[in-house]
Amino acid sequence: MSDTEMPPPSVRKSNSLFGDIFGCTDAATAKLSCIGAGYYYDPYLHQFTTLTQSRSRLINRGYFARIYSILRCVSSFCKGIPGNKQVVFLGAGFDSYLFTMKEDDHPGLTLWMEVDLPEVVMKKNEIYSQHAKRENFSRYKLISGDLLDGPGLIQSMKDGGLDPSIPTIYLLECVTAYLPPEANRSILNNISQLHRTAASPAMVVGYDPMSQQTDNFGKVMVANLMKRGIEMPSLMAFPTTQSREDILRETGFDSVQAINMKNAYMNIPPPEKARIDSIEPLDEFEEFFLLLSHYCVWIGRIFVPDTIGAGDETLSSLIPPEHFRKLLKAQKQYSPLSMAMHQFDRMGSSF
Ligand SMILES: C[S@@+](CC[C@H](N)C(=O)[O-])C[C@H]1O[C@@H](n2cnc3c(N)ncnc32)[C@H](O)[C@@H]1O
Repeated sequence: MSDTEMPPPSVRKSNSLFGDIFGCTDAATAKLSCIGAGYYYDPYLHQFTTLTQSRSRLINRGYFARIYSILRCVSSFCKGIPGNKQVVFLGAGFDSYLFTMKEDDHPGLTLWMEVDLPEVVMKKNEIYSQHAKRENFSRYKLISGDLLDGPGLIQSMKDGGLDPSIPTIYLLECVTAYLPPEANRSILNNISQLHRTAASPAMVVGYDPMSQQTDNFGKVMVANLMKRGIEMPSLMAFPTTQSREDILRETGFDSVQAINMKNAYMNIPPPEKARIDSIEPLDEFEEFFLLLSHYCVWIGRIFVPDTIGAGDETLSSLIPPEHFRKLLKAQKQYSPLSMAMHQFDRMGSSF
């Protein structure tokens, strides 16, 4: 095993539900492909995984739509709610969105907390400790926590510095489908109770696959997961946008919305779509939309206006910095992948 790889969460047999899945490494590698192609920029992700083969443009674009939809909610929440705000990213994996987002896109942010299993946190700490003097780390907090631990999870977050009286957005990107339906319910219940008691605004934003197995794509999706030994108990429990909205309502969120990713993609502002078209033009839109229609982004709000997270406002954070774009452009004359990775390392060492 190279030093950029980590044991999968599965080594923790007790209460990790990941079986033998490299959940976060898989996601990080796909995101690295996106970064290497120039869709967005993350200064740290390349330190956690190695990209041996770029993903297809269809997959890159799908990941971009996912990241855009989630971070746009963060930005909309921070801009739309006055005063201080907190972000809690549950099951964050190796993502470093705080360091991707531009300051203008999260006004008033006082805390960015990430929660994951100890193995992931340990690996992340190892890398981040080398950069801990950088500006954004003052409001960054990484803690170990178990999403199956109900009230214990809330206590760990409070111990880590979460203040429930401050408006907070909770992110659950590609996590809850892996958990049993009752864990979904308990996480959402605990968050809603916490903020109802504190009478403070809260928003949860999730991203998940969904399948009714009523079409070929859905059937193949489930068959492939089973072949790889991946269990997603909530894929079937919440197979539609309607079912995601129902559980949010049942757990105390008063404004709810689940959007299939095809519609979320359509809602990306045209200049952003034009930008990614110029990176990797796509011909297979039918296939792309079929893929997207099996994923959704869902939003629950408490004391938060319906308009927050629902608009089509632009998110400038995902446009990579100028110097990075120039480097990628220059490198594409050679070998996009190897040169980009080489450059990442040089940039990493200059921090
Ligand atoms: C598929 S990965 C997604 C990572 C990241 N959110 C993304 O979308 O790229 C699922 C993440 O959930 C974490 N996870 C799984 N079970 C968990 C649990 N019981 N408690 C906390 N985190 C968990 C895994 O360690 C992993 O980082």
